[in-house]
Amino acid sequence: MLTVNVTAISLAKLKKTVVLFAFSGNKLGPRAAEFDKAHDGLVTKVIKMSRFHGDKGQILNIPSPHLGAIERVVVLGWGGKAKIKEGTVRKAAVTLGKALDQYGVKEVTALMGEVTSVKVDPIMASAELVEGMELGLYRYDVLRKVSESQKPSMSKLTIMVDSKYVKATANIVTLVAAQTAGCNLARDLVNGPANIVNADTLVEEAKKLADLGVKVEILRQKELEKAGLRMLLSVNKGSDVAPALIVMKWQGAGKGKPFKAVVGKGVTFDTGGYCIKPAQGMVGMKADMAGAAAVLGMMKAIAGRKSAVNVIGVCGCVENMINGQATRPSDVITAYNGKTVEINNTDAEGRLVLGDAMAYIIDKEKPAEVIDIATLTGACMVALGAAYAGLFSNSPRMVKGLQEAGESTGEKLWHLPIGPEYTKMLESKVADLSNIGGQYGGACTAAAFLSEFVDKTDWAHLDIAGVGMAEKIPGGMEITGASGFGVRLLTRYLEAGR
Ligand code: BES
Ligand code: MN
Ligand code: ZN
Repeated sequence: MLTVNVTAISLAKLKKTVVLFAFSGNKLGPRAAEFDKAHDGLVTKVIKMSRFHGDKGQILNIPSPHLGAIERVVVLGWGGKAKIKEGTVRKAAVTLGKALDQYGVKEVTALMGEVTSVKVDPIMASAELVEGMELGLYRYDVLRKVSESQKPSMSKLTIMVDSKYVKATANIVTLVAAQTAGCNLARDLVNGPANIVNADTLVEEAKKLADLGVKVEILRQKELEKAGLRMLLSVNKGSDVAPALIVMKWQGAGKGKPFKAVVGKGVTFDTGGYCIKPAQGMVGMKADMAGAAAVLGMMKAIAGRKSAVNVIGVCGCVENMINGQATRPSDVITAYNGKTVEINNTDAEGRLVLGDAMAYIIDKEKPAEVIDIATLTGACMVALGAAYAGLFSNSPRMVKGLQEAGESTGEKLWHLPIGPEYTKMLESKVADLSNIGGQYGGACTAAAFLSEFVDKTDWAHLDIAGVGMAEKIPGGMEITGASGFGVRLLTRYLEAGR
């Protein structure tokens, strides 16, 4: 994590690496122009020698051995001044973080004076700078030997803003750091392979949140049997690792206020079970717990920010494996809510875990609303790629609130349908429901299946199969490996209180 300091602007105090900002057409902001003037037009001269235009995310690197305490000047493009909106600086900062890391830079001072002249104020822009850099600098190399020269170098960021903004900027930067810490926790867990990240690991991670004031309750094999989460249990039958239902409570809004519940799919590995996946399709299935990881990350973010919200985070943790106990196609299971389900495809396991986890938490805690987040269907990935996650809901209010939150955080959601047309496709010859629909509309039939387990509770389902891992679909995101999708979105949604 970066150490971030916020101070009042003082050009005389600049040292090490200095980050300036420019808009399209090479328009330097007033502070950058001042800096340029003070250094004999260095920046404008080098710009003329380059292809740098100040376009969004463009970077100009000027090593400056002749400038005394200042070793390097980096100019980051923000694009057209009028087009700057929420997310512009964040996105550019992801690129900046990666570039600074490549240069081996340790200490950076960013001159944030410029933004006073555009829609995004310096406080917001500073928040996005920190957020983007933290996300851009993230790496997963806990499992390999990294030579000194490959280790992350960036450690200290100083943000210089006008003195009137110092306090507010310092405050918001602390909140942002708590959020990116949650996001990067989710990324670590998703990047971790299944022999290292299993239900036990997720339980351990949840227990760590107790230090932040989160109440953590864990149900393992025996408790789950007693409670009757037989659908969830049926998925884990072929695994040697005990399943877990993690229930985490944060009561930041005080007593008496209703809770909202967020439930994550935590399939730590999905082989498909007896309906086994082909080798190619099994690649990446360590990430089938990205929903649960997002819930853990969200709880860490919310507790770290001491958010004034009441939220229950739930993770259904299982492993979809094969042995003599494992569920067979055509087995019929009675769910927590009493519905019988014919398992016609053991690879449609996520909905079994979520259906029981949601029905259970609704029954026990009577939350005002439930959101589930899951790498649920390949069909959703086929439909939307890595640009949008699928959003399904029985509540127009939640659709609006979640889409707005996603636009803000850059985790976009596309509203897809549920309804009787899809529910009808889940008919079974022997049970109340089949766990699969027909050949088509797979994301919608999966969502329709889930809707059978929330009763009348306001509910939204996020299918993150396509957006959880950046490398699965080329060109989707500017980050590699796990994206931490959902952590910032859910935190924003809950804090907005809509
Ligand atoms: N975990 C998968 C969905 C998935 C696929 C996530 C690819 C990320 C990338 C899920 O459990 C699954 O296997 N779904 C099946 C459902 C089918 C059997 C009805 C699918 O999408 O093929
Ligand atoms: Mn599956
Ligand atoms: Zn799965």
